[in-house]
Amino acid sequence: METRERWRPRFLLPLLLQLLCGGCPRVGGCNETRMLEKLPQCGQAFADMMHTVDVWKWCHLSEFIVYYQSFTNCTEVETNVVGCYWPNPLAQGFITGIHRQFFSNCTVDKAHWEDPPDEVLIPLIVVPVLLTVAMAGLVVWRSKRAGQLL
Ligand SMILES: *[C@@H]1O[C@H](CO)[C@@H](O)[C@H](O)[C@H]1NC(C)=O
Ligand SMILES: *[C@@H]1O[C@H](CO)[C@@H](O)[C@H](O)[C@H]1NC(C)=O
Ligand SMILES: *[C@@H]1O[C@H](CO)[C@@H](O)[C@H](O)[C@H]1NC(C)=O
Repeated sequence: METRERWRPRFLLPLLLQLLCGGCPRVGGCNETRMLEKLPQCGQAFADMMHTVDVWKWCHLSEFIVYYQSFTNCTEVETNVVGCYWPNPLAQGFITGIHRQFFSNCTVDKAHWEDPPDEVLIPLIVVPVLLTVAMAGLVVWRSKRAGQLL
């Protein structure tokens, strides 16, 4: 019984953390300069792909959802490569800029997104980040506690 109690926080929480954020970057290892240097590659690749799509289809998400997913994935991968969390406000700002570039003329009923106002956007970005930090803190706290029990 007792063994199981101890086993759970030590192994389950880091596992959960890994599931939550895949290749979790090291805390404090984020180089924002490098991130901002790398993200335009994703934007350029997305722009290249979008130019193979007829301009009048640019508001039809289904026509290029694959490209969009690949773009999102690219920002996530590049952000993690330089040790930053994804999403983060800087990366989100970059993605919003891409949205403006391609979807500024799309109305809400044509495309199913429009940049939400900041009051909506900021919690959307901040909450997952806080959650990740809280989870990491919990793991440290739990392992310290487990250490005291031993
Ligand atoms: C961040 O990246 C830039 C550009 O690659 C580099 O010049 C700088 O030294 C890096 N900063 C840190 C703290 O690694
Ligand atoms: C995201 O991109 C990476 C690197 O290009 C790739 O290995 C991975 O399979 C991609 N993930 C998705 C969900 O497309
Ligand atoms: C949006 O419309 C303006 C004016 O018609 C045009 O100049 C611009 O190129 C359009 N932008 C996009 C992304 O379609």
